[in-house]
Amino acid sequence: MRRLSADWRRDIDEIARLAAEQSGPFDEDLARRYAEHFPLLHPLFVELYGDRDDGLDQLAAVIAEAAASWGVRPRELKLRDAARESDPGWYLSHRMLGGVCYVDRYAGSLAGVRDSIPYFQELGLTYLHLMPLFESPEGNSDGGYAVSSYRRVNPALGTMEELAALAADLRAAGISLVVDFIFNHTSDEHEWARQAVAGEPGYEDFYLIFPDRTMPDAYERTVREIFPDDHPGSFVQLPDGRWIWATFYHFQWDLNYANPAVFRAMTGEMLFLANQGVEVLRMDAVAFIWKRLGTPSESLPEAHLLLRAFNTVLRMAAPSLLFKSEAIVHPDEVIEYVSLEECQLSYNPLQMALTWEALATRDPRMLQQALERRHALPPGTAWVNYVRSHDDIGWTYADEDAAEFGIAAYSHRRFLNDFYVGRFPGSFARGVPFQENPKTGDARVTGTTASLAGVEAGDPAGIDRVLLAHSIALSTGGIPLLYLGDEVAQLNDYSYAEDPAKAGDSRWVHRPARPADRYAERADAATDAGRVYTGLTALIRARQETPEFGGGTLVGFDARHPSVLGYQRPGEGQVILVLANVGDAEAVIDATTFGGFAPTAIDVVRGSDVDLAGGLVLPAHGFVWLRVTPVA
Ligand code: GLC
Ligand code: GLC
Repeated sequence: MRRLSADWRRDIDEIARLAAEQSGPFDEDLARRYAEHFPLLHPLFVELYGDRDDGLDQLAAVIAEAAASWGVRPRELKLRDAARESDPGWYLSHRMLGGVCYVDRYAGSLAGVRDSIPYFQELGLTYLHLMPLFESPEGNSDGGYAVSSYRRVNPALGTMEELAALAADLRAAGISLVVDFIFNHTSDEHEWARQAVAGEPGYEDFYLIFPDRTMPDAYERTVREIFPDDHPGSFVQLPDGRWIWATFYHFQWDLNYANPAVFRAMTGEMLFLANQGVEVLRMDAVAFIWKRLGTPSESLPEAHLLLRAFNTVLRMAAPSLLFKSEAIVHPDEVIEYVSLEECQLSYNPLQMALTWEALATRDPRMLQQALERRHALPPGTAWVNYVRSHDDIGWTYADEDAAEFGIAAYSHRRFLNDFYVGRFPGSFARGVPFQENPKTGDARVTGTTASLAGVEAGDPAGIDRVLLAHSIALSTGGIPLLYLGDEVAQLNDYSYAEDPAKAGDSRWVHRPARPADRYAERADAATDAGRVYTGLTALIRARQETPEFGGGTLVGFDARHPSVLGYQRPGEGQVILVLANVGDAEAVIDATTFGGFAPTAIDVVRGSDVDLAGGLVLPAHGFVWLRVTPVA
């Protein structure tokens, strides 16, 4: 057992030697990447595990995992690594478009997903996130987020071999496969969990288990409740009376990353997935992975060190893989996860929530402020912009941002919850509350895009709101992500309430089975499905033909109208100007507002000329994407 030195130079050769002893000699590529990335990884390990007597052996074990994984990485994927290395910003392209679906609910099985590839191509997808598809407990498995094995596919969906074959088919179709890396917790049926509970040597410290309530009580003084409907606080009791950390469901046990063996084991699982042809890992629940007494145990500095360490290992052994952060937290914290060293991609929960906020209030100011102030990201990184996901909508805006408009953050959240669950008089929305917490007054909202936007309630503006919301996600940069089925205006599915495994989790209301009837109507402009599909595919085409939509640079634009959102996406010599009216009345924009542009503009969705000399009229819930020429 040896400790790490403070200086990586003193450990680099010895660790390579120890790792090679376990995994075989490094080839030239690996040796080069090791030399490049070890100096970054070592200090992270020193910070995380430097006080342990076996720090050096632990790091050697991680490097051995990486070396072994590189040794069996398929040739095709190594070719892809090389291709991505020469085109590192590939995911910033305006041609990127994501889709997300459940394998079983959307396509029955992995074979069904494969059969859907022609449709994905029709839609223009370049990125496909398949919701968790690993072995998990029968009954409630939190939609697969309780993983019992990272190396076995849920047998009802297919096999790991099929997943790898699907990844290859998708690659050939120009689509990158995205899966979750659920690394904060495993299910209570995972082999590690069984061994830990049984007290097997080597596994006792994989989870956070306490003999009585002393430590749980101490932690709970500062930790928030995430799924209060399931259990209060963050701990559940084991049959033998001990308590175990479980942030989410009682059957999802949080891993203990203070133990480097957990880091090493998860490195192995991560690299295994990378070698199946997965191109992006959605890093689930990143904020929760490190715990410390007396803190909220969310977004602690060590969470960032861990992500950097995982990322650095990938750069050695699966260099084309990307991380996407799932941090649904305060916007100041969301952004801390986004960097080339940590997660190159991140959900943009603030833009998502404020899009809905603007539709409810008919007031674009908070969204406008977020776009102007909180949109910029480090070079080379990108937002994943979405209208809604498989999860609830939480109102994660910063209280201090709201205060600038005289908006009281807490009561505004209550209003938004009431509005979207249809409790507010005159609301067009048909959402369902999620995890209402009577102790704190917190709640979140679930519902499909169409149901939240008014289509289910029969509101005449419902379809326009669906298109308006998507027009924002498609035009602010980064990777737009569609929840598949929303492009044909799928509605809430209330049947989950009859399934005991789902009844307690209202997120199932917006995870319907593939709406085959609506897909069949998608070419028929007389149907809701047809109107949304036609409108949305026109936007997708326009985006994919408009290079200004690539990257993420965005500049605000003051439309000088109380219900109109405005922003510019700069290009070479020209600019795409986006205007969106969240109001219920037509908006007349005066010609002087466009004084900085030449009068002739092009509507890039309709392909028509627009004369700005007379101003512009936006219908209620209308929007335009205009190519304009700034004048000096
Ligand atoms: C993530 C998932 C969510 C799940 C939770 C626990 O937030 O998006 O669906 O419930 O993690 O794994
Ligand atoms: C999941 C939950 C969401 C929670 C979040 C925390 O996304 O669905 O409600 O706030 O995890 O990361």
